[in-house]
Parts: sequence; C-alpha cells; structure tokens
Amino acid sequence: MADFLEFQGVTKRFGKTIAVNHASFGVKKGEFFSLLGPSGCGKTTLLRMLAGFERPDEGRICLDGKDITDLPPNKRSVNTVFQNYALFPHLSVFDNIAFGLKVAGRPKDEIESEVEKMLRLVQMEDRADHFPNQISGGQKQRVAIARALVNRPRVLLLDEPLAALDLKLRQRMLLELDLIHDEVGITFLYVTHDQGEAMSLSDRIAVMHAGVCEQIARPAEVYEAPKTSFVASFIGDTNFFDGVVSACPEPNYCRLSIGGFAEVLCYNDKQKAVGDRVNLSVRPEKFRISVDPPAGAAPRLNVLRAKVEDIIYSGNHTNYWVSVGERRVAIYQQHLAYLLDEKPIRWGDEVWLSWHADNGYMLDDSAPVDESLLPPKIPQNAAAAGEAK
Ligand SMILES: Nc1ncnc2c1ncn2[C@@H]1O[C@H](COP(=O)(O)OP(=O)(O)OP(=O)(O)O)[C@@H](O)[C@H]1O
Ligand SMILES: [Mg+2]
Repeated sequence: MADFLEFQGVTKRFGKTIAVNHASFGVKKGEFFSLLGPSGCGKTTLLRMLAGFERPDEGRICLDGKDITDLPPNKRSVNTVFQNYALFPHLSVFDNIAFGLKVAGRPKDEIESEVEKMLRLVQMEDRADHFPNQISGGQKQRVAIARALVNRPRVLLLDEPLAALDLKLRQRMLLELDLIHDEVGITFLYVTHDQGEAMSLSDRIAVMHAGVCEQIARPAEVYEAPKTSFVASFIGDTNFFDGVVSACPEPNYCRLSIGGFAEVLCYNDKQKAVGDRVNLSVRPEKFRISVDPPAGAAPRLNVLRAKVEDIIYSGNHTNYWVSVGERRVAIYQQHLAYLLDEKPIRWGDEVWLSWHADNGYMLDDSAPVDESLLPPKIPQNAAAAGEAK
C-alpha cells in the first residue's frame, strides 16, 4: 500500500549542484519523520519541494494518494515552521495564530475557539495579547508552531525550528514538540543537522549526504546498523576496519584479515566470500578494555593486544585511544562502580581489547570518509606529553 506521503525519484538541480538526487521514500500517516544531514546536503530543498516553493526537475510527490507535484503551496495542506519563526511583528500572539483562519474567512467565534485551543496546546494562554518583541525565543517558536497547526495541515514541516535557541531551551522544546506531536497526531517532517534531536524525536530518520538519502530507518537501526561509512561516521563515533575476507568458518560469520594488524571475526550478513573487501564499523562503546585478559571463553569474542595512547576521563565514562599494530582505535568505557572497577588502566599500558563479532557492522561501501567527521586522532606528540606528566 502506498504511504501517506511519497517522494518518487525526486531530483532538484541548481546549475551544476544536484541539491537532491533521486529521493524515493514514503512517510506514514502520523509519523515523526526527520531529515538529518550536514549543512548543504539538500534537507531544506527537499522540504521546499514538498511545500511547493520549489519545483522538482524530476520525480513526483504524492500526498494521501494524490499527486501534488504541480499544486501551488496554498493548495497542498502542508505548513512550514522555519528556523527564524517569521512571526508578524505588528500582530499580537493571538492575531499571529489567527492569521491563517482569518485569511480563510472563518467565522469569528470559530477563530476564537481554535486559537484558544492552540494557545493551550503550546502553553501560551497568558501571553495572547503580547507582541513578538515582548516574548522569548522559545515562546516565539511555540507561537510559530501554533500558527502552523491551527490551519490543520496534513503535514507539518519543521525546518531546524530550534536552531536559534540556546541548549537548555532546545532540550525543553524537544520535549514539548514530542508532546505536541502526540497530542495532534499530525505527520511531522522535521529537518535538522543535529543527530541528538533527530534520534530523540523521530519514529524514522532519513540520513542525507550530498543530496542522497543514504539510509532510512528507525533511530536505533541507523545507529546500530549503519548502511554506509557516511552514516556510521555522521551519527555517533565509530572505528573503521577495512580488510579482506580470509575465511568463512561458519554460516553468517567470516574472518577478516586487517592489513598489518590482525584477524577478526565479524557477522557476515552481506554474505561476503573469501577474497572480498569489507569495511567494518565498530562503535567505541562496543569494546571492552582490560589489564587482564577477558575472563571466560565467550564464543565469537575478538581479543587483541593493544597499547594505551591516550586517556580522557569524562565523569561517567573514559575515552581511551589505543594502538593495535598501526591502527588507532577509540574506546568508550563506562564506569560501573567507583573503586570496584577492574585494575586501573594507565597511559602506555599493554592492554586487552575485546569485542563480540556481532558488534561489528559491515558497511555497503568502502569509500574514504570525511576525516572531519571521525573522532579526533591521537595527538602526534601524545607519547612525549605522556612522559612529561
Ligand atoms: N536557490 C538556490 N540556488 C542555488 N543553489 C541552491 C539554492 N538553494 C539551495 N542551493 C544549493 O543546494 C544545496 C542544498 O541546499 P539546502 O539548502 O537544501 O541544504 P540544507 O541541507 O538545508 O543545508 P543547511 O543545513 O545549511 O540548511 C546546497 O549546495 C545549496 O548551496
Ligand atoms: Mg537548510
């Protein structure tokens, strides 16, 4: 069955730039769906095509079974909340929210009751007669959301709506947005470059990179089972191990020979064969690091020797940088119990590094990733700095 909202092979070019490249995906009715990606990856362009402010060069956009690609913005039943609120400065909070209903020529008492409902929803009842310059950024954003929702759009588009707010307010607004979404049950299409926002709010996320939707999945799936090296490095931190399959000792598992460093076992959901190249992503928190060898003989546990290059204590966890052969590996280890933790790990220690084969994830591509998206490298002079301590 077709989805409530569908992008079918939607492409948009600006001169030589392909802002959106064959976007094809569906959004379900009532879903909180996010477009997540770095600046310039095409998020706003995709949203503007849905709103009707931009025309696709190729492809179609359908809403509730109807092709809306050629409809003007006001005939689409979608409303947008922008980053900069765009409230009318000369109108009160009440009149800002009432604006759409007045333009539509609704009766006065209906306008009043609808606006009051919205004021309650966004908790601005006591500010109805204030003007935009008399309320805070977070309050302006709530008015902007109320103004869009009062028209009862079938899809609410939100383009980085929290970007102008400070961190604390953003966190509070995230919770409020979530509540508003639950309450109104409208389909939300949310644009952000902030992975935390996308992860905490969304039913599903489309991760965009250079105009392409590289993965569309639930937040946990995007994090735990990234499809591409871009997704693995943009969302959270990761370690890449590229190698060649040297053996397939059991169904669904293969051994990777990783240049100059080791043989490791990994889950082979892609059915790779001996000789195939593989790019593996292992998240830093999936490793265990210990002075003593890991106890017991857990099946499919990879165990390697490593040398500690750098340690950064962060309260609830510690970041370790270790070298294994020529590779550097980032590890996050939580402190489960103060003073009861295992033997302390110090800079320069030879340690044991272990992780379960199921915790490494094979990627679709082996393309080099943008270095700026990876965790920071160990400083070249770490050894010297460590000695000086
Ligand atoms: N009107 C336009 N004319 C020319 N190029 C454009 C136009 N609008 C967008 N672009 C280009 O298309 C690409 C995608 O832009 P878009 O605004 O969709 O990115 P974005 O993901 O929303 O980025 P940001 O997170 O910075 O808002 C960029 O390279 C941008 O420069
Ligand atoms: Mg944008």
